[in-house]
Amino acid sequence: MNRLDGKVALISGAARGIGAETARLMVEAGARVVIGDILEERGRETARAIGTDASAVFQRLDVTSEADWNAAIGAATARWGGLDILVNNAGMFLGKGIEEASLDEWHRLCAVNLTGVFLGTKLAVPSLRERAKARPQGSAIVNLASVAGLVGSQLDPLYSMTKGGVTLFTKSAALEFARKGYHIRVNSIHPGVIQTDMGQQTFVSRARNIGTNDVDAARQIALSTHPIGRLGMPTDIAKGIVFLASDDARFMTGAGLVVDGGLTAQ
Ligand SMILES: NC(=O)c1ccc[n+]([C@@H]2O[C@H](COP(=O)([O-])OP(=O)(O)OC[C@H]3O[C@@H](n4cnc5c(N)ncnc54)[C@H](O)[C@@H]3O)[C@@H](O)[C@H]2O)c1
Repeated sequence: MNRLDGKVALISGAARGIGAETARLMVEAGARVVIGDILEERGRETARAIGTDASAVFQRLDVTSEADWNAAIGAATARWGGLDILVNNAGMFLGKGIEEASLDEWHRLCAVNLTGVFLGTKLAVPSLRERAKARPQGSAIVNLASVAGLVGSQLDPLYSMTKGGVTLFTKSAALEFARKGYHIRVNSIHPGVIQTDMGQQTFVSRARNIGTNDVDAARQIALSTHPIGRLGMPTDIAKGIVFLASDDARFMTGAGLVVDGGLTAQ
């Protein structure tokens, strides 16, 4: 199950967190991976920790830059002949209410969480489409949405607006590529609260909202919203991403995989 032998993946925002764990599991599953991120030192360390140059390489990628995307896709093509998998994982959390957020902050959030997904998809399509011709199950895109792209977020309504956009862009892109006969499946994944740097930012903003500096107390509150009794780990989400990227998800496109410990079941 969930093998990726011979496939080439580009993962944005993979220097740390969910993206880094996804890169690790993808290499374990037989893929070769380009790790794209703005964190250069961390990205190189992650690539080194995962494998040799033959399986994982770092490429600087700011998802808001068309030139960076072209360079990252070009790196995958030059090294390994093209792309079979794109994971639009890079994202940012703002943690501010509607009245506190500035216009500049909103523009930055949109640039990373929305423009980044649009650009990555648009610019990777030629390569994904080309490689799909030689593969019976085609190519795959996996977009990192969130539970906040399914239900409202009192912590960060603007983040929620961007992730709602990712949720529906996923479905629309799936429909467009199916109509055009590209054989590129597009699916989203919707994590609950995951213990990463971003997860920590959500605890800090939750603490601020309830008027305390006690981040641990805020973490406990976040935990209590997950019926399964714990917060998520990066590997919980990475396993779902690997599945969606693999041929085992061959009949899935335009779908959202909810991996949230029961949070949105309530
Ligand atoms: N952690 C959670 O609780 C959670 C929940 C739901 C969804 N998500 C989503 O999962 C994805 C990964 O989140 P994470 O928890 O691993 O966060 P993280 O902050 O640990 O990692 C995000 C990565 O994206 C990179 N990044 C940020 N801006 C970038 C840019 N402009 N170009 C390229 N890379 C950039 C960061 O440098 C970082 O390495 C995000 O899209 C996030 O919104 C996370």
